[in-house]
Amino acid sequence: MKGYHDIAGDGGSRVLEQVTEQRSRITDGLSGVRHLVALGSGKGGVGKSTLTLHLADALRARGLRIAILDADFNGPSQARMAGVAGGLFIPGSRKVALPRARNGIGVFSMGSLIPESESLEFESAAQGESHTWRATREFALLGEILESVEWGALDVLMFDLPPGAERTVQYADFLGPRTSFVLVTIPSEVSHGVVARSVAALSKGSHRLLGYVENMSGYFCRDCNAVKPLFVDPDAAAGRPSPLNIPRLGTVPFDPELARICDTGRSLSDLPESPVTRAVAQVAQQLMDILEPLTPAAAHADGEQPPGVETPR
Ligand SMILES: Nc1ncnc2c1ncn2[C@@H]1O[C@H](COP(=O)(O)OP(=O)(O)O)[C@@H](O)[C@H]1O
Ligand SMILES: [Mg+2]
Repeated sequence: MKGYHDIAGDGGSRVLEQVTEQRSRITDGLSGVRHLVALGSGKGGVGKSTLTLHLADALRARGLRIAILDADFNGPSQARMAGVAGGLFIPGSRKVALPRARNGIGVFSMGSLIPESESLEFESAAQGESHTWRATREFALLGEILESVEWGALDVLMFDLPPGAERTVQYADFLGPRTSFVLVTIPSEVSHGVVARSVAALSKGSHRLLGYVENMSGYFCRDCNAVKPLFVDPDAAAGRPSPLNIPRLGTVPFDPELARICDTGRSLSDLPESPVTRAVAQVAQQLMDILEPLTPAAAHADGEQPPGVETPR
């Protein structure tokens, strides 16, 4: 069987030029973005989407211009969590205006384009047979979104990644060395084990790992106004360092009210008494400190966000 190295040039497909051209369109589209930060995990259901949204809001509250790209195309959560709908083509250009949540954050999510009763299908001859082909289509879509959305001037573009250690690395490779990673885990051995694989895989490349956030570390009992243990972290219990071997950016407890507000597009400002609100604010501050220089510029200290589409509510 022939390998890629046996093919002379690109076999006449112009594929190399096409990829290079798209790369340069993506670079142009993101030229006004200071930092690219992806929240991944390897594990599903650990709170990547929840933390992406609320960290984005906490950074916005500190005067930064933020947008989210929900890169979980077939399991998009951000449209519902942020309460955004649609995306509009800007007349006279190939660009798509960025839908805005109520707080002004731009959110691009497949969930606002495709109803929850439908799934996104990547058309291909090998449908259902080749994961490689599906992944290729998935990254073609990611590239198209990156180059065609009007991101404008942003301090941070946050990516909400799909689960899977292998996919996390594929996204990292596609997004390139400009992107920094925050991993999300819950304090169970199973989750730490899966997230440790993502750490190992990302560490092999030139990817910048900012650290991890431990979500659902404790349960906020509203009746007793105290955080109670939810999982027993065997490493913490034995005084051992975390196997994740990257900085811990913070711990966020489980608050049943948070799960409720996430389902209805509301923000943590509706839960000022929750320890989650304080914990997310601390992680946001840590991120700002690590991603220096991330001080809000005077031009947008009033919270001004780049142009976009108001979401009808
Ligand atoms: N700290 C938390 N407190 C309460 N509910 C949470 C918390 N973190 C996540 N959830 C809830 O758990 C579910 C899964 O979270 P999600 O962010 O969708 O995970 P992921 O993106 O990793 O799959 C959601 O319903 C979300 O509202
Ligand atoms: Mg998610």
